[in-house]
Amino acid sequence: MALIELDGVTTIFGRRPRRALDAVRGGAGKAALLAEWGHTLALDEVSLAIEAGQVFVLMGLSGSGKSTLVRHVNRLVEPTAGHVRVDGVDVLALDRAGLGAFRRRMVAMVFQHFGLLPHRPVIENVAYGLAIRGERRAAREAKAAEWIARVGLAGYERHYPAALSGGMQQRVGLARALAVETPILLMDEPFSALDPLTRAELQDLLADLQRDHGRTIVFVTHDLDEATRLGDRIAILRDGVVVQEGTPADILERPADDHVRAFVGAIHRPRRAGRDAARPAGQSPSRPLASPSAG
Ligand SMILES: Nc1ncnc2c1ncn2[C@@H]1O[C@H](COP(=O)(O)OP(=O)(O)O)[C@@H](O)[C@H]1O
Ligand SMILES: [Mg+2]
Repeated sequence: MALIELDGVTTIFGRRPRRALDAVRGGAGKAALLAEWGHTLALDEVSLAIEAGQVFVLMGLSGSGKSTLVRHVNRLVEPTAGHVRVDGVDVLALDRAGLGAFRRRMVAMVFQHFGLLPHRPVIENVAYGLAIRGERRAAREAKAAEWIARVGLAGYERHYPAALSGGMQQRVGLARALAVETPILLMDEPFSALDPLTRAELQDLLADLQRDHGRTIVFVTHDLDEATRLGDRIAILRDGVVVQEGTPADILERPADDHVRAFVGAIHRPRRAGRDAARPAGQSPSRPLASPSAG
């Protein structure tokens, strides 16, 4: 059984999503639903199975439904129809207390704009989830310090987020998400706000961490190079529909339709002229990696 399963998930934003659902079931797509109903079809009958230990990448243009999908895993957004199961649990059936416990136990998130607490030093940011869980200060700060070192920020424990570069702030974001030791990490464009060099360093760090710790990661990006570098599997969304799901090699070598072909062509080809040109398409990120360095 897959760790995360979405089954026939349809998500509509608007005032009367359940009524609009009938129109979708009658065949209306995203454009028609918007034109005729003033509702947004964010996801349209999405079914996915994400296995434990995978880095599962969601890719697609802006507005294609990536963030909505990733937020279904911990029910920050509720679908209009369909099922979400995590570790066999029907997430949509959980009551308030059950959902809180599920989130603390199962899921951590890393955000595009880091989401750090600005008035707390690095050590408290990283220990935050452990504090919520009731761990005592000495224990949680010891654990936090280990993760801070692991992401290459030893010595920065007492610094405040504003004193750190974007790349360093996202290292803190990673350490915070890893410190709670949940099996699932949700990462919504975590490196999109970083410059290309810093972004590549963070990709290497994540691949390195993943090799050691083997979490299940749902990773959103619109960068095909990042997707093929990190992903064990990639799903491509268009207008709320999964148009292809497969390994990086499947996507690059056997694009399912013209949309995927255009996506792969338009986004990938220029980048392949760069430093990754010699890397075979779809190679998994198991190459030896530089140890993390601050910055
Ligand atoms: N809270 C919301 N209310 C209304 N429409 C939304 C909301 N969130 C997302 N949408 C719409 O749903 C679609 C999918 O959005 P999103 O999942 O954020 O896409 P992506 O992350 O791929 O850019 C878009 O058309 C977006 O405008
Ligand atoms: Mg998004």
